[in-house]
Amino acid sequence: MSKVTLRYQEISDAERYFEILSNPNFRYFEVKVKSVEEEREWLKTNPEKREKNREYNYAILYDDELVGACGIAMDTRRPHIGEIGYFLDEKYWEKGITTEAVKQIEKIAFEILELVRLEIRMEPGNRASGRIAIKCGYTKEGSVRKAYERDGEYRDCLLYAKVKER
Ligand SMILES: CC(C)(COP(=O)(O)OP(=O)(O)OC[C@H]1O[C@@H](n2cnc3c(N)ncnc32)[C@H](O)[C@@H]1OP(=O)(O)O)[C@@H](O)C(=O)NCCC(=O)NCCS
Repeated sequence: MSKVTLRYQEISDAERYFEILSNPNFRYFEVKVKSVEEEREWLKTNPEKREKNREYNYAILYDDELVGACGIAMDTRRPHIGEIGYFLDEKYWEKGITTEAVKQIEKIAFEILELVRLEIRMEPGNRASGRIAIKCGYTKEGSVRKAYERDGEYRDCLLYAKVKER
């Protein structure tokens, strides 16, 4: 059976990520990478971000092949809150891979990082992302207006969240 696993991103992943992220069908995604070199420089910042408790970024592997990424961005002013983000190579869409990756990263967030609240945000048109949140048991809390910027425009997003009851 095919297996989804997570590991920390490595600098040598840069070429593969540049290939995945150059996809024009990533319609609702705000990250744009201009070159492999830019991606490499970004990947180099990961260890420091972990040390400073800012971001925890993982590679998604499918049968040991690098197919995507998911990460937790910490709310620096409210350190019990984290936001999960993800993307996947289009060749692997609709196999349940990201849903499985979110379940795994959520465990890291609640059990290792001891977060209490996890958020997932997406544009209203991003049906796949909304389905992932629902299938992983996140509750839709509403719409957040002009919450992020893409292509020079401030856009609304839907907010889903899961909290850990103690
Ligand atoms: C969003 C994304 C990560 C989904 O990954 P995935 O591994 O295909 O998702 P899953 O297979 O776990 O399935 C999620 C659900 O969305 C549905 N779905 C997947 N791709 C879809 C699409 N293009 N259009 C509509 N629904 C879609 C699946 O059918 C599934 O729902 P179901 O169980 O009700 O059938 C992927 O489409 C992607 O990388 N998109 C570009 C980047 C992006 O938008 N990231 C999220 C930003 S918030």
